[in-house]
Amino acid sequence: MSNSWNKVGSISDFPADLGSCVKVNEQQIAVFRIAENGSPEKWYAVQNLNPYNQRMVLSRGIVGCTGAGHKVTCPLHKTPFSLKDGKHLGEGDVSDLKTYPLRVENNEVFLQVD
Ligand code: FES
Repeated sequence: MSNSWNKVGSISDFPADLGSCVKVNEQQIAVFRIAENGSPEKWYAVQNLNPYNQRMVLSRGIVGCTGAGHKVTCPLHKTPFSLKDGKHLGEGDVSDLKTYPLRVENNEVFLQVD
């Protein structure tokens, strides 16, 4: 598979401070657009699959802050992951998330997916 940049939509397709699910190369990816007041927007892309129980739910997760960066918390059992590097932030032996390079250019959003 190519790991070139894939256009996944325009900025306005992604609601601020929420996750959205896109599919690229048969992979579900959760994209987060964080628009905190007064700061430049931050964007993240991680696997949509929660490794805790193999559910495709992370795009519906709750976005929050850890002090060291943004996190997403699974909507089902509250498992937290860093949005920056995908690290599992909770207790127990849960895999980290895969993260994907994302760039925003000319109002369009691109993901690099291998
Ligand atoms: S399904 Fe996500 S933590 Fe339980």
